Order: sequence, then C-alpha cells, then structure tokens
Amino acid sequence: MKLIFRTSLLHLLLYCVTHTVGVDIKTDPPVDGEGLIQTELNNTVSLKCTVGADTPNDEELVWLRDGMTVNLKEENKKGASSVCVSPVIYDDNEATFTCQLKRDATHKASVTLRVTYPPELSGSEEVTVEEESTLVLTCDIWANPPVSTVEWTRNGSMVDLFEGGFVVTIGGSTSQLTVSKVERSLHEGTYMCTAKSPKYGPYSKTFYVTATDKTIKFPLMPTIAAIVVVVLTALLAVVSRWKKIVKCFKK
Ligand SMILES: *[C@@H]1O[C@H](CO)[C@@H](O)[C@H](O)[C@H]1NC(C)=O
Ligand SMILES: *[C@@H]1O[C@H](CO)[C@@H](O)[C@H](O)[C@H]1NC(C)=O
Repeated sequence: MKLIFRTSLLHLLLYCVTHTVGVDIKTDPPVDGEGLIQTELNNTVSLKCTVGADTPNDEELVWLRDGMTVNLKEENKKGASSVCVSPVIYDDNEATFTCQLKRDATHKASVTLRVTYPPELSGSEEVTVEEESTLVLTCDIWANPPVSTVEWTRNGSMVDLFEGGFVVTIGGSTSQLTVSKVERSLHEGTYMCTAKSPKYGPYSKTFYVTATDKTIKFPLMPTIAAIVVVVLTALLAVVSRWKKIVKCFKK
C-alpha cells in the first residue's frame, strides 16, 4: 500500500516536471512508438516547439540539429518556434533536432528523424567490352532499410559463379559483378541486378553487354624509347643554350 502510494507520488512528481517547465515539440508527421519521425527522401517534416504552460511567453527558444545551432529568424524565437526540413535528404537520417530554452538548456526536448529510401536502381545501360579484358558491372544498392538480397542474372537466369568466371562482391553501397577475362561466347548478353528492399520491394537495373574484338595494344617499349630520345634532345638543346646565356652574363 505504502509502496503503491510512493510510486504514484513519484509519477505525479515526474508528470509535473515534464509538463510544467520547459518545452514541448509537436511534429508533422507525428513521432512513432519508437520516438522517431518516419519520413522518406524529398518529403517535408515540420517541427514546432512551444514553451510550457508556466513559462513566460516571451522566453527565447533555440533549435539544435545534432548539436549545431539552427539559424532562426528573429520573429521565430519567442514562445514558439518552427523549423521545417524540406526536402528531407539522406543526411537527415538519424538527425536529432533539439529545442531548448535559450536561458536554460536543461529545459529541452528532442526528436530524431528516420529517413527511408529504396535503392536507386532503374533503367538500363549499354556496355561494350573488349574480349579478354575485364568487365565490371556496378549496381548502387544503398537503401534504408538496407536491401535484404541482391541477385545478378544473365539472359534471365542466375549468373553461375562456378562456371563463366563471374565474381560478385557486395560492399556497403554497391554490388559488383566482375569477369576478369571476357569471352564473347560466355559473357555477351543481358545482365540484370535486382536488389530487394524489405520495405519497398525489388528494384532492378539492366546492362546490355556486347564484346568487341581485342584490339592490338599500342607497343609500349618503342614508344617509351622514342619519348626518351625526344626529351634528351630537348635537354641537350637547353644545355647548349644555357652555356650561351651564362657566357652572356659573364661578359
Ligand atoms: C528526390 O528528388 C530528386 C531531385 O528532384 C530526384 O532526383 C530523386 O529521384 C527524388 N527521390 C525520391 C526517392 O523521390
Ligand atoms: C544471351 O542472349 C543473347 C541474345 O539472345 C545471345 O546473343 C547470347 O549468346 C546469350 N548469352 C549466353 C551466355 O547465353
């Protein structure tokens, strides 16, 4: 009985503390159960901060984004202050906005943004690659939440990593399909990468790969020899000129 009384008194006290002093933030869209504002790229998020009921109406407010002060117009400081995040960008993901009394930073409230976006995969690209050279196809799989799977197909069936010399690598933001020595009969075709987002579903990009004949590489050693000769000749010319110039000065 005593215990119950104590906890309810504590609740009452906490209630009083959070509701009579300080600031309150209202958001559009509203904060979810996890305390986050769920939004998508290019959307708009509005945040409005007001001082608590017992705080003077002309009390100045300050907004911080991840600890950095947000510039506010003079008329947007006293008693209530609004900030608008528009458009929402990648960088706003996990950004925390804090509103506090200018006079006393202990009176504050915060909200955090969760920005979701699908991978930017669409359309198609024509890729020409020389026989026996390296083919690299890259797909941007950056997304929030992260994609759950990435698949590569050639002519409609999964690329065979054991035949055909394909290597698939997945980094944080890209997936690459690499063939280190292209053979026309094995590697020409229509490739597609598909990244599945747990929130937005599958996104794909297509690559039309054609192989061309190997070109004879420009012979490197004779070229270097020729360049060396040219440079040396030029240097000799400068040296002989230099002698003349030096003589000239000694006159
Ligand atoms: C966001 O806007 C930019 C520029 O207008 C556009 O290129 C991009 O596709 C948009 N992204 C989304 C997910 O709507
Ligand atoms: C894929 O399809 C194209 C066009 O039909 C064809 O020319 C190519 O040989 C095929 N590639 C493989 C490896 O089967």
